[in-house]
Amino acid sequence: MDLGIAGRWALVCASSKGLGKGCAMALAREGVNLVVNARGSEALEATAAELRALHPAIKVRSVAGDIGRNEVRRAALDACPQVDILVNNAGGPPPGDFRDWTREDWLRAVEANMLTPIELIRSTVDGMAARGFGRVVNITSAAVKAPIDILGLSNGARSGLTGFVAGLARQPNLAGRNVTLNNLLPGAFDTERLRQTLSTTAQASAQSPEAIGEQRRRGIPAGRFGSSDEFGAFCAFLCSVHAGYMTGQNLLLDGGHYPGTF
Ligand SMILES: NC(=O)c1ccc[n+]([C@@H]2O[C@H](COP(=O)([O-])OP(=O)(O)OC[C@H]3O[C@@H](n4cnc5c(N)ncnc54)[C@H](OP(=O)(O)O)[C@@H]3O)[C@@H](O)[C@H]2O)c1
Repeated sequence: MDLGIAGRWALVCASSKGLGKGCAMALAREGVNLVVNARGSEALEATAAELRALHPAIKVRSVAGDIGRNEVRRAALDACPQVDILVNNAGGPPPGDFRDWTREDWLRAVEANMLTPIELIRSTVDGMAARGFGRVVNITSAAVKAPIDILGLSNGARSGLTGFVAGLARQPNLAGRNVTLNNLLPGAFDTERLRQTLSTTAQASAQSPEAIGEQRRRGIPAGRFGSSDEFGAFCAFLCSVHAGYMTGQNLLLDGGHYPGTF
């Protein structure tokens, strides 16, 4: 299927590895020009080089730095001649017990996982509306739908973003101008972050990371973790011309782990 987005420009935040990279790869396959971003410049440049080698016809620009910082957001926006597609992503807040979290911990989580995407949305959606095409995809978490107790910072900050996007997406001056905003909620995907979480859990429980991973997989009806490639392919479809009638939605990609009918 031709997704109809060749020649468009996308800013994909936090995209040197994992789910963000999966989205960048899938958009590149569709002929979308890219601005990629991550804090570590070595992995970022390696990803940018991989994208250029695989897809010589597209333009790939890289902006290194923490997307939570104002000057990095500015540089990322400036690197993009126009933002037709915005994929919001960043690292998740650390796990823990809410009794240990200070106001500063909360502010850091809200800054990274709520205010940063909102700032980028604010900078881009009116231009999208003026041009009559725009796609915003926020990578959030399955924890928005089914909270995970030790991830309270993530549950809280991402729910704030989710509530805001639900209202914004329904504004006629965006929805009526072919600008959609949706959230993708990953369950367990086989990325560096998941491998780190498995090894932290393994250390705490005196089991091997492989044994912990096997237990997690057994709890997923699909019997496996998701891949960044399949996450990216889904994201690319949401950014396509065919997905213009879907907005304000929270789409769970979790191999059937969430047990509810809706
Ligand atoms: N994988 C899962 O199973 C899963 C499940 C639920 C939710 N999520 C959420 O999905 C998001 C992506 O997870 P992932 O599994 O793809 O993680 P990952 O494999 O660790 O990759 C994270 C990517 O984001 C970049 N990054 C992190 N913080 C950044 C920041 N502040 N500014 C710019 N770039 C940043 C990293 O590069 P640098 O470190 O060099 O910056 C890296 O490229 C996270 O918010 C995570 O909590 C993941």
